[in-house]
Amino acid sequence: MRRALFVGLIQAALVAALVVVAGPAAPAEAQENQYDTLVDVRMGERVFRAQCGRCHGRDGRGNDETGAPDLTTGQFSRVSSDAGMFDVIREGIDGTAMIGISPRASDQSVWQIVSYINSLNLDPADYDLPGDAARGEQVYAGADCSSCHMIRGEGGRTGPDLSTVGSRLDPDEIATSLTDPDAEVAPRWWTMRIVRADGSTIEGLRMNEDTFTVRIMDHDENLWSFMKSEVRSLERVTTSTMPATEDLSASELDDLVAYLFSLRRES
Ligand code: HEC
Ligand code: HEC
Repeated sequence: MRRALFVGLIQAALVAALVVVAGPAAPAEAQENQYDTLVDVRMGERVFRAQCGRCHGRDGRGNDETGAPDLTTGQFSRVSSDAGMFDVIREGIDGTAMIGISPRASDQSVWQIVSYINSLNLDPADYDLPGDAARGEQVYAGADCSSCHMIRGEGGRTGPDLSTVGSRLDPDEIATSLTDPDAEVAPRWWTMRIVRADGSTIEGLRMNEDTFTVRIMDHDENLWSFMKSEVRSLERVTTSTMPATEDLSASELDDLVAYLFSLRRES
């Protein structure tokens, strides 16, 4: 009897201790997702591919073998809010293969994954766009966008592939990326400006860099390697190489947005 009471007390003390330990970490419900910009979506995509893709598929569409559900439908059985999704990613789901993300992952990184998963579910039917996608395709062709961007295998590589941009970005985000390219530039699209020993300048996307050398790809997709000790200066440029679309009319811009938003994965 005594002994049972004693054990009970220890259990109560343990529970109290656990509650105290769990106390200071604010529950996710109390938080809002502060990390839902384009760059965050892309960072989330990277982590997702590395850490979740083996079960949920690289594109989040699920995998029958692992039993990991399709996360692109916007319909979840265990999750009803961003905060709930945060908790599932953080803690996992007890008794299932769904294990929580590495404890080393920051909260920021978990929120970025939430943003990425949310971005997988952009439904064209939710948007009533003023523009016309077919006219937008003409605008695209006339505006030299393809010198930097690839759509379905055609075009350049000095900007992101736009083949499925409509499943990643909503129309507002697309419009912002057109009118204000510098608003958010993921580090991958930063460039290096290098002044050679003879004073000439060259600029391009940074492909590799180590202590001694740097390799860049210029606008014509030529690769250049430099010994850092042999150049006059090296400067990182964090603005976008993409020109703002200033010379398009408002209606051309609407059309272009409608066209880009229509570019999505075939379902
Ligand atoms: C080892 C395989 C595995 C890995 C790795 C994994 N998951 Fe899961 N995940 C599952 C399974 C299985 C389920 C379904 C669990 C259940 O409800 O029975 C699931 C469920 C989920 C759900 C809930 C879906 C719903 O319908 O409510 C989310 C969200 C989720 N996973 C996100 C992620 C994220 C993000 C990562 C990476 C950080 C990840 N998962 C890594 C297997 C995995
Ligand atoms: C000189 C190269 C260049 C040209 C020309 C160019 N872009 Fe870009 N674009 C980029 C780069 C680099 C980025 C990524 C950096 C950023 O976000 O601005 C980008 C980003 C974008 C994005 C956001 C994509 C994403 O995944 O976040 C869209 C949409 C886009 N461009 C559309 C266009 C359209 C439409 C045109 C033609 C009117 C165009 N671009 C012309 C280089 C270019």
